[in-house]
Amino acid sequence: MGNVFLVDHPLIAHKLTHLRDETTETKRFRELVAEIATLLCYEATKDMELTNVTIRTPLEETASKVIKGKKVAVIPILRAGLGMVEGITSLLPAARVGFVGIYRDHDSLEPIQYYAKVPGSLGERMVLVLDPMLATGGSAAHALTLLKERGARSIKLLSIVSAPQGIAAVHQRHPEVPIVTAAIDRGLNDVGYILPGLGDAGDRLFGTR
Ligand code: PRP
Ligand code: URA
Repeated sequence: MGNVFLVDHPLIAHKLTHLRDETTETKRFRELVAEIATLLCYEATKDMELTNVTIRTPLEETASKVIKGKKVAVIPILRAGLGMVEGITSLLPAARVGFVGIYRDHDSLEPIQYYAKVPGSLGERMVLVLDPMLATGGSAAHALTLLKERGARSIKLLSIVSAPQGIAAVHQRHPEVPIVTAAIDRGLNDVGYILPGLGDAGDRLFGTR
């Protein structure tokens, strides 16, 4: 699958197992979402530009590198994307955070947007869109369209569990947007849940239902 980066790492595999496990409680579920988000961020930022600097170690002067300073915006899709924010900002503390609120209509599974507040100068930023679940792809594709309308040019989508249908739907509408994911699952059930998946990410994160 083009433009999909499946992050294959023992730490992710281990954490995903606990995340999927139905006996994992809210507190641990939340921690795992944040930890996996940090590991995805490591992969998603691997092409960040560096610039040369000269520093002094306690022993001598040496040439070294720092991140060139491209600004970053982190945009969680509410609700479940919220669980990934801390894991990303722990690595990128200067990132600006915006929010897109979307839920899926129960019957049609179409995305319904109810909120949007995003940082300015999106066009100058690397925009990381966060949602742990990419199911039909409707929510993510809608968020990407909105962010492009607000000026975003350089966007990556970070998802923890993705369905092939969701990847295809996002690629169809936004082929240039890389998807960084921890798992590509088998498919969807007849009410749009990912199989084997992990259930309802928002409910498990926030202890609802
Ligand atoms: C979930 C999830 C994604 C969306 C994925 O949100 O967090 O945003 O479903 O499904 P899709 O790819 O088919 O659009 P949900 O609608 O449950 O809202 P919530 O996070 O507020 O509970
Ligand atoms: N949203 C979720 O939270 N889980 C799924 O499996 C699909 C959509």
